[in-house]
Amino acid sequence: MPEKTAEKMSEKMSEKIIVPLDVSAEREAIALIEGLPEVTFWKVGLELFISSGPSILAALKARNKRIFLDLKLHDIPNTMAGASRVVGRYGVDLLTVHAIAGSAALSAAQTAVVEGAKAAGCDAPRIVAVTLLTSIKRAALLSELQVPVESGHYAQKLALLAQQSGLAGAVCSPQEAAMLRIACGDDFLLVCPGVRPAWAQKGDQQRTMTPIEAVQAGVDYLVIGRPITQADDPAAAFARICEEMAM
Ligand code: C5P
Repeated sequence: MPEKTAEKMSEKMSEKIIVPLDVSAEREAIALIEGLPEVTFWKVGLELFISSGPSILAALKARNKRIFLDLKLHDIPNTMAGASRVVGRYGVDLLTVHAIAGSAALSAAQTAVVEGAKAAGCDAPRIVAVTLLTSIKRAALLSELQVPVESGHYAQKLALLAQQSGLAGAVCSPQEAAMLRIACGDDFLLVCPGVRPAWAQKGDQQRTMTPIEAVQAGVDYLVIGRPITQADDPAAAFARICEEMAM
């Protein structure tokens, strides 16, 4: 491949990577963001959002970054609608809810996020539903949650529920991505954590895939944290992953 084309592909791949800001203070988050100017898409999860509130979102927007607001909302329809309407005003790109909140709550969240965004004059975030937390193993699905279904099929059922409720996509394990891609079609967004380059430590992630395997399985966005943020040279680790994905 000519060098320029390879560079372009690798640039494009960099937009598929979402790096989590897994810290508890806004100033630590800003240090991470400023240390990695190449990263365009950042994830704000519960820890940071509970600590900093919407001010971290403003800081990211001021730096022209895309935002994945990973709040994993799970409540009754009226409460989901209220929370989603407020999120709609923030101008974030992606928001998570739990699919097991059910179709009424998912549809209510979808309607409300659009209303909130419209009132604020910004684009509505795309809502992606968490199917089955990857920390829930097959045995726990049956013995604790009393769900007598294989975990991949359960994730597929919940992704279809999210799609039928008007949501844009799902969060799933990369191992389930190929199956969900077939079930839900090409326009359905698949966002996956549990991605590890072959050269990185697995940490507590169990059933991982490499970035290129995840892309080949049909994943749209890869959430990759510690292999980048804990690397000796985070910028070099990010660039290496982008290059590998473009090969
Ligand atoms: O450091 P690492 O790449 O494991 O980070 C993955 C990110 O994705 C973390 O923010 C983690 O909380 C999140 N996540 C996950 N597994 C899920 C859902 C979210 O690892 N099933």
